[in-house]
Amino acid sequence: MRDRRYAHPFRDLRAKLRQAASVCVLSGAGMSAESGIPTFRDAQTGLWANLDPMQLASEAGFRADPQRVWDWYQMRRDGVRQAEPNAGHVALARYAARHPGRLTILTQNVDDLHQRAAAQTGEGARIVALHGSILTDRWLDACPRGEDLMRRPCEPSRAEPGHPPRCPDCGNRLRPGVVWFGESLDYRDLTAAEEAASACDVMLVVGTSGAVWPAAGLAARARHAGAHVVILNTQVSEIDDEAHIVLTGSAATLLPRLLDPL
Ligand code: OAD
Repeated sequence: MRDRRYAHPFRDLRAKLRQAASVCVLSGAGMSAESGIPTFRDAQTGLWANLDPMQLASEAGFRADPQRVWDWYQMRRDGVRQAEPNAGHVALARYAARHPGRLTILTQNVDDLHQRAAAQTGEGARIVALHGSILTDRWLDACPRGEDLMRRPCEPSRAEPGHPPRCPDCGNRLRPGVVWFGESLDYRDLTAAEEAASACDVMLVVGTSGAVWPAAGLAARARHAGAHVVILNTQVSEIDDEAHIVLTGSAATLLPRLLDPL
């Protein structure tokens, strides 16, 4: 705990979360770390500690070595499928189910653990997946059939198995449905996230380094719009200055403490 202005931070925050009309969570890889999914920038254990993001998470990297990148994503997909939501995901889902329509989760994570926790525990939150989904595919290039208004673009499910799978007609390759470096976020998702950040009473920023924009800017947006901003992280983050209070600890420990009924 680094902020001495709050003598009873958990009691005060729990009261704020009970009374809030609108709560936003901005989550990052630390949210899923206790489910066994590696983060990106943690020293030693983060994926980018030993791997080059430009080779594995950019369109140029994919075009340079599609098999390597495809196989790396397949390996990560297997890890996501085997993972389970942790106590932090569950606490959020339970809070949302108790307060339908109050919680919006803006996640940078490409796993589906927020969604699965909601399906298992209770719907009620709106979930915006800012960086897409690792469990979906899309075409690398625009489908040539889509240029003809009379024809529908090919479905990615038509692709023939391979590393990566290819369209049997034109050879177009599948790529994972995530946002890579140098790519724009989906406009509707970003707009929804900005609106939610601007309208919330409390924002919980959970397990993100705050190194990747525009997602990192959502904390400042919430703060400038008048929200109470709380960072939950095991380490310092690049956006700690945007927070009214920083809670040092893990997502699976802190979120139940903040959100579960006593
Ligand atoms: P990072 O790997 O950059 O940061 C993870 C953060 O989680 C760090 O600040 C850790 O201190 C913190 N952390 C680790 N374990 C934790 C735990 N158990 N509880 C709470 N906090 C914990 O991940 P992101 O900020 O999500 O992009 O990275 C942003 C984006 O960069 C990702 O979405 C990804 C990556 O390249 C795409 O996939 C497009």
